[in-house]
Amino acid sequence: NAAQDFIAGLPKAELHLHIEGTLEPETAFALAERNGVKLPYASVEAMRRLYDFKNLEDFLDLYYQATQALLTERDFYDLARAYLDRARDENVRHVEIFFDPQAHMRRGVPFGPVVEGLSAALNDAAREGGPTSRLLMCFLRDLDEADALATLEAARPWLDRITGVGLDSAEAGNPPGKFSEVYERARSLGLRAVAHAGEEGPAAYVAEALDRLKVERIDHGVHAIDDAALVQRLAREQVPLTVCPLSNIRLCVYPDMRAHPIQRLFEAGVVVTVNSDDPAYFGGYVNENYRAIQQAFTLGTAELTQLAKNSFSASFLSNDDKQERI
Ligand code: HPA
Ligand code: ZN
Repeated sequence: NAAQDFIAGLPKAELHLHIEGTLEPETAFALAERNGVKLPYASVEAMRRLYDFKNLEDFLDLYYQATQALLTERDFYDLARAYLDRARDENVRHVEIFFDPQAHMRRGVPFGPVVEGLSAALNDAAREGGPTSRLLMCFLRDLDEADALATLEAARPWLDRITGVGLDSAEAGNPPGKFSEVYERARSLGLRAVAHAGEEGPAAYVAEALDRLKVERIDHGVHAIDDAALVQRLAREQVPLTVCPLSNIRLCVYPDMRAHPIQRLFEAGVVVTVNSDDPAYFGGYVNENYRAIQQAFTLGTAELTQLAKNSFSASFLSNDDKQERI
């Protein structure tokens, strides 16, 4: 298929990828066995059968449960290495990877082995054919801000490995403003800032993330479509959105791809990017996400190329590096 080949050949960056969301059931079982951990699923097939999510929270329950397989620095290295190899095969030249330190610390796995394993994999992959990468630590928004502040403090010895902070987990009832102090502190430490907003939450959360957290891009942000003035603002200020089409369908944010607002946001001049979010759970890595919207909206090569260019311009690469790659 010509469109598929074109997408596969496009050099691209991925900017919205949770490393814990790349844990395939086969890997979860292999790591659990290596660690002598018992997962609460009868088999790989039984675990996959649970991938029929009603909403974000329904997914998050399984996503956090599966992290039980991850214990050692080596586990985090292997997890990241497997994803990076796969990304390279999809012509992903640069990736900005989220991880959820609180999801590990609250089950007794300290910050050190998590970040050491991940950053070693990132460095090795960059040296051995790519992709290049950055690491972003997310705060869990369903916990309180004091927990986020303590997590940022725990990260202090490793801040040279971390490019920025993000905000994820259950959005409903957890507005961005709840985290304004920890974001201010993070920015004062030289960290870049992004946040999930407007995935399940309203357009107002997107504006709030910009105004109160001073984020440089919005993760998801699809509900901005419900507020025309906000869409205009995103376009005028060139605030990138890291959109994850297959994720939004799997989590029932939209009933089908034709109903997804990505094309309307793109047409309105918003810097839209295409990403996979949690590819082990949502039925496709990044090229599959391009493919799904290409089919739904019969996108041509010019639009696909623009989306791939956006992924580099919206990244945290230096301006010189961007110039070289776009
Ligand atoms: N939304 C919020 N939190 C998450 C997601 C997501 O799509 N993936 C992993 N944690
Ligand atoms: Zn996400």
